[in-house]
Amino acid sequence: MAAGERALEFIEDGQTVGLGTGRAASAFIERLGERVREGLRVRGVPTSERSEVLARNLEIPVVSLAEAGTLDVCVDGADEVDPRLDLIKGYGGALVREKIVAASSRKLVILVGPEKLVHKLGARGRLPVEVVPFGLPLATRRLRALGCEPRLRMDGAAAALTDNGNHILDCGIGPLDDPARFESELRAIPGLVGSGLFLGMADVVIVEEEGRVEVRKRAEA
Ligand code: A5P
Repeated sequence: MAAGERALEFIEDGQTVGLGTGRAASAFIERLGERVREGLRVRGVPTSERSEVLARNLEIPVVSLAEAGTLDVCVDGADEVDPRLDLIKGYGGALVREKIVAASSRKLVILVGPEKLVHKLGARGRLPVEVVPFGLPLATRRLRALGCEPRLRMDGAAAALTDNGNHILDCGIGPLDDPARFESELRAIPGLVGSGLFLGMADVVIVEEEGRVEVRKRAEA
């Protein structure tokens, strides 16, 4: 994936790198693994158990968030990107760790295809939120009251579990006029650990279409 290759330009020798989750992030981790084999020295902080397995298989040194402190850069995918470079993430279920690692990083670089570009967040109709199991009934009611239709994400016959042991509610939504307000309403729900809204976090978005890449930077970045 050309975007994964391009993202390597944001990585310098000796840095600590957040390793995202999903197909785009995995393509980047593969490229990073090649560079590590060639002698690049980096430490990786995975955003999921899946990405940790991949990084370890590629012999990328993995450290915990506690060992890492502030990360230099985090590279991840996204499910929606709006013109301000605000994001919806979490279709892959790793949103809470992804947000923690991204917020621990000086720079967030996002890799997407053009199908992820939207005029307004919510345009693809889905916003994942992570909820502690005990809080599901309350969160479900509160989300309905906010006008979205939450659906419990399943893994076969059982409710899917995140790496944190929580559940995901996929909220049916439409395009959001005020994502920041919606995010604060979500954060007011007890037991809701985090939402897939990543506002003001991405510094760079690399869009790949048919092998060509376009690099978009946040206005104030
Ligand atoms: C994982 O929880 C997600 O936030 C992913 O980063 C997002 O779903 C993008 O994944 P793909 O690159 O597989 O589309």
